[in-house]
Amino acid sequence: MFSTGITRLLGIKYPIILGSMHWITDAKLSSSVSNAGGLGIISSARFKDGDELREEIRKAKQLTDKPLGVNISLNRATALGPNTEFIQAVIEERIPVVETSGVRSPEEVIYPLHAAGIKVIHKVTSIKHAIKAEQCGADAVEIVGFANGGNVGMDDVSTIVLVPRAKDVLKIPIIAGGGIADARGFMAALVLGAEGVVVGTRFMATIESPVHFKFKQWLLDSQENQTVLVQRSIRNTHRTLINDAVRQVLKMEERGAELEELRPWISGEKYRGCIIEGRLQEGMAYCGQAVGLINDIPSVSTVVDSFIKGAREIGERLIAMGLLMPS
Ligand SMILES: Cc1cc2nc3c(=O)[nH]c(=O)nc-3n(C[C@H](O)[C@H](O)[C@H](O)COP(=O)(O)O)c2cc1C
Repeated sequence: MFSTGITRLLGIKYPIILGSMHWITDAKLSSSVSNAGGLGIISSARFKDGDELREEIRKAKQLTDKPLGVNISLNRATALGPNTEFIQAVIEERIPVVETSGVRSPEEVIYPLHAAGIKVIHKVTSIKHAIKAEQCGADAVEIVGFANGGNVGMDDVSTIVLVPRAKDVLKIPIIAGGGIADARGFMAALVLGAEGVVVGTRFMATIESPVHFKFKQWLLDSQENQTVLVQRSIRNTHRTLINDAVRQVLKMEERGAELEELRPWISGEKYRGCIIEGRLQEGMAYCGQAVGLINDIPSVSTVVDSFIKGAREIGERLIAMGLLMPS
């Protein structure tokens, strides 16, 4: 049996967490990850009110009886929806865990969630914010490094450094993310001191993901050196594949464009057009460096099983090297 601080905290079989992705981590993808033994996280970012989120949660519950999480964005810059209603919906639907992410501290949402018995995992990109999350009472912290798809933060520190640094200073369990796409990354994260992993880019390229088939093909055709960072000038750095919209945003940033001018280009609608509708040049094409490790579009359960099987094989290799003792 697999047992870590994260499997015990969340009551899941494997410490593999679906990274919340705006428009992508819906009822179907999230329930598939939960059914495979990990934790699916429904993104609340696209819902305009608590009722819409409630409907998606109910859809997911029809598809799985395993634990499910919901992501609540604390992103002031993009003002993503009415969080008070989302918190109410999550409490009423008895969701066991909320993942928070974004620039604001999770402090104000932790109180009502804990009062309802809901665990809170906060996602950060720096040690400073990890410590703050622990001080605020988060139950676990997800720390994501420079290879991360989507928001990478401002510090450009790799997962391989962030995770042991976090382990040295935190008491709560750590979930590592950014660049993890197979058993090798999973095992490495555990070795570094994490008790679980958060995975985004790899799960985008699965059968159950709602990402457009043209975008999935683009993922298959792309390598680890074909992403760039955008939105750095507005202190909201994201990693993306390169297309016309990204080139345009980079040009605008170079000449000092402000958020208001950039907003139409980095909007959720244009991003949706690109990733979900397959108009590949239209919006941000968020994606991690792990894209270089993706060569197929398997089912979610195939991905999760391959993490576990592969990790056991690595363990056997380490035993054969004399580094581990057989139990
Ligand atoms: C297309 C895309 C959209 C994302 N959207 C969000 C989001 O809305 N909120 C969030 O907290 N993280 C978001 N992320 C980050 C993921 O939750 C996760 O941290 C990341 O994908 C892990 O790194 P990896 O892609 O290397 O596996 C997004 C990532 C991608 C690739």
